[in-house]
Amino acid sequence: PSTTHIIMKDDYLWFEGLPFLVLGYSYEVIKEVCAQFVIKDEDIVMVSYPKSGSHWLIEILCLIHSKGDTKWIRSVPIWERAPWLEEGPWLLASHLPFHLFPKSFFTSKAKVIYIMRNPKDVLVSGYYYWTITNFSKKPESLKQYFKWFFQGYSEVPYGSWFEHIRGWMSMRHSKNVLLLSYEELQKDPRSTIEKICQFLGKKLNPEELDSVLKNSSFQVMKQNKMSNLEILSEILATKHFLITRKGICGDWKNHFTVAQAEAFDKVYQEKMAGFPKELFPWE
Ligand code: A3P
Repeated sequence: PSTTHIIMKDDYLWFEGLPFLVLGYSYEVIKEVCAQFVIKDEDIVMVSYPKSGSHWLIEILCLIHSKGDTKWIRSVPIWERAPWLEEGPWLLASHLPFHLFPKSFFTSKAKVIYIMRNPKDVLVSGYYYWTITNFSKKPESLKQYFKWFFQGYSEVPYGSWFEHIRGWMSMRHSKNVLLLSYEELQKDPRSTIEKICQFLGKKLNPEELDSVLKNSSFQVMKQNKMSNLEILSEILATKHFLITRKGICGDWKNHFTVAQAEAFDKVYQEKMAGFPKELFPWE
């Protein structure tokens, strides 16, 4: 990628006031994707705010596509199976907020599956991830990252969680958008995978469904070098890491002080005012 127009500040690449990860793509590529990328009718795009279960959903979608056959997920790295939209093409993945998403989507029959997660767990997961990886600003402590999370635009990759979720939530009545949560995948993975199949118009027999379920499980994914980012960890991190860190709901309870939890709730209520609580599977 061209480096001539890369605007680098605070270890991010800035576009439209939003901090993007420095992963080798250029300002021009991001600009071109947002303005001109043509999403085809048959495309499926996994969209998420980072640390919400993106890789888990990609693994499920790949397994649904191969009808539970594991050859693909065991031989091709996950980032090649679902290239990031920001990089360039069948199953695509993106962290773009709604307002920057390619406009071609709105006149296509393409499908978006958006995965969301309790923002407190997103915060904890992000803290560990950005501390170890080498392509974003590194927090020195959870306390510092906690502050960054609320400053959003200036401090954490892809900006504010609140803006991201509010933007994509506005598409909740669209028949081309399926909103999923990390929490529902945890609580009832089988039904959630069936829901995804129905949305995609894919029919799997019970054995195929069993295989999707088993091979996308935390334990199996953690062992799959093509999916756990172990290969990338050697070049993109200060120490060994796997994307499959802990894989639970509510890890924030092991990290937040009571005061932090209260402060979080207060901001959450202000920023999410107007959205019915029932839309979200967390308190
Ligand atoms: P934790 O850091 O809380 O463990 P993303 O893919 O968007 O970066 O999200 C990463 C989070 O998803 C990590 O959360 C990771 O452990 C979790 N995850 C990845 N694969 C998973 C799976 N198969 N089951 C449950 N959680 C998974």
